[in-house]
Amino acid sequence: MFKVYYEIEDEGEEVRELKIALASDHGGYQIKEELKGLLDELQLSYEDFGCECEESVDYPDYAVPVAEKVASGEFDRGILVCGTGIGMSITANKVQGIRCALCHDTFSAKATRLHNDSNILAMGERVIGPGLAREVAKVWLETEFEGGRHARRIQKVSDVEAR
Ligand code: RB5
Repeated sequence: MFKVYYEIEDEGEEVRELKIALASDHGGYQIKEELKGLLDELQLSYEDFGCECEESVDYPDYAVPVAEKVASGEFDRGILVCGTGIGMSITANKVQGIRCALCHDTFSAKATRLHNDSNILAMGERVIGPGLAREVAKVWLETEFEGGRHARRIQKVSDVEAR
């Protein structure tokens, strides 16, 4: 079983499962459906926030609910898919506390977890195929944040956000 570990000050370590919020627009619908299979295989719990089919919709309507659920802590991480991944990532990064990384290769997916502690992954269905999208998502889900000097840098990013 896949687990995420949280350090709780003075109370030791709490262990619970990673919860994923997932959404796409029409341009990312097929990959979103593909990723549900991956999440099932990894035995991760997730909620699908739409869309429901390939009928044209507006990506911010799907990025914002996922970003807010992750920012509030109700979900640990999010995955957003649109045609390019760009609209989803731009929108998600407007929500305070979100570090959304647009990745179409496994090196970046791993690096952004290690160094940026990204809490949302964005991908574009018109950019990569379902096989690579699964690999990118798997690496991103399985990689833990490295902390240390990277935590200091993330704090600086948060400071900018708080201005
Ligand atoms: C929809 O046509 C497309 O613009 C959207 O999926 C996304 O690529 C936006 O960034």
